[in-house]
Amino acid sequence: MADLRITVIEADATAVTAPLLVLPHFERERRPLGAAVALDRAVGGGITRLLEAGDFRGKKDESLVLYPRDGESAAERLLLVGLGKREECTAERVRRALGTAVRQAERLGVGELAVSLDALDEASERMGAYQAARAALEGAILAAWDFRELKTKLEEDAPRAQVNAITLVARGSEEAREFCDAARFAQAAAGAENLARSLASRPGNVATPSHLAQVAEALGREHGLLVTVLDRAAMRGEGLGALLAVAQGSEEEPRFIVLEYRGGAQDQRPLALVGKGVTFDSGGISIKPAEKMEEMKYDMSGAAAVLGALRAVAELELPINVVGLIPATENLPSGRAIKPGDVVTSHLGKTIEIVNTDAEGRLILADALAYARRFQPQAILDAATLTGAVVVALGNHAIGLMGNDGDLIDEVRAVGQRVGQRCWPLPLWDEYREQLDSQVADIKNTGGRPAGTITAAWFLKEFVGDTPWAHLDIAGTAWRDDALPYLRKGATGVPTRLFVEWVRSRAEAR
Ligand code: BES
Ligand code: MN
Ligand code: ZN
Repeated sequence: MADLRITVIEADATAVTAPLLVLPHFERERRPLGAAVALDRAVGGGITRLLEAGDFRGKKDESLVLYPRDGESAAERLLLVGLGKREECTAERVRRALGTAVRQAERLGVGELAVSLDALDEASERMGAYQAARAALEGAILAAWDFRELKTKLEEDAPRAQVNAITLVARGSEEAREFCDAARFAQAAAGAENLARSLASRPGNVATPSHLAQVAEALGREHGLLVTVLDRAAMRGEGLGALLAVAQGSEEEPRFIVLEYRGGAQDQRPLALVGKGVTFDSGGISIKPAEKMEEMKYDMSGAAAVLGALRAVAELELPINVVGLIPATENLPSGRAIKPGDVVTSHLGKTIEIVNTDAEGRLILADALAYARRFQPQAILDAATLTGAVVVALGNHAIGLMGNDGDLIDEVRAVGQRVGQRCWPLPLWDEYREQLDSQVADIKNTGGRPAGTITAAWFLKEFVGDTPWAHLDIAGTAWRDDALPYLRKGATGVPTRLFVEWVRSRAEAR
């Protein structure tokens, strides 16, 4: 799908020619706000009347379309979208409002929208022009994405139009400059998240480990990333025993993918992003039930986010060094597959007793995390659809966050809050470690039912050494069964924007 075209113009909102002009509005405010003041005058008080009548209340996700008469305004349609209460207004509300606007535009058969953000002045989160525009554009870019590449014809209930262009209306040159900066960031970050969503939506027979490697290599060529891809033989050479153990049951060739972005000083230690890349998880010999097994194509959502994030970081030319690490394989049963009870030797040298072949994510991540040592990263952040237990703990509303460094955990939480990809911490107390004690090997790969998300993270912790590390369990958040105003159901792209924002904030801090 083509990118959304974004234009910033300096203009009086009444003079903006567009098929649809979007006007955000706060709940309970009975007077027109921002650009709506002048437009209300142009349409003979029509906005005031509908606000006073309570026909539009500005509740979050609410919207109402208005048709000015000929000559009243340069815009053919005005779309009021609700933000909820002013004092509760967050970037997430703005993302939702623009998502709603995009959906309405699709329904109305309008492919281009103009947006005024004037009403957002004094929004409670103290959003400046930059933050408001960034959230608005992220919401629009994410909302406009759709996964249609495997359909040969349009469906009956398909929207009448696809939104392909957005014009942001600025009040002056300073605001225009901030809107342009916001547009550049939103385009990179939300565009990268859409790439991750496309990858995670692709079925297992399309998005194979070698497909992920090809995507990485293409990114390398287009954006000047150094990309290294290891095949089975090279993995053997590097002693990636845990990754190879998972891959041995599959005919499909595994890949270990390394992407290096160098935007910082030669001697600066990089940030490491690690993503689980299980392109299909059947469970292996410990096979999963058939129900919803088809969804296990998104078990490479962590990997997709790493690919997306590296593209965004390179596009933005952030002044920092970043390395992305992706262990990619299928997890299938076969005559060659690993069996419960097997013991394998990991890249770090630790031996692992495989009690359950469906706990494969931690095996491949163990090798990737240990491999990261050679880059001497300043910090490691991994993302993995690792445990069903995180859905039991947090549902679909938060990423499970764990790690070995309190400051990094706080930092990642704050980053997640900013981008609307909330994380919630779970403890890695020593007591939990005993659940992984093995009779025959150094560690076993499952710790039983209790605290399944924590014991999975504890397993990973055994392979990171002293490097500050945080782990995101995205099993509950990488896929949605229902839609948000700015996200269709299906792959969410989580945590691509979190990754990008983390790297951006680290790059800015130096
Ligand atoms: N990929 C799954 C986790 C998962 C579950 C992701 C639901 C998305 C939605 C992972 O590999 C897995 O199978 N985990 C097991 C671990 C268990 C065997 C200890 C699980 O959560 O059941
Ligand atoms: Mn599994
Ligand atoms: Zn899995």
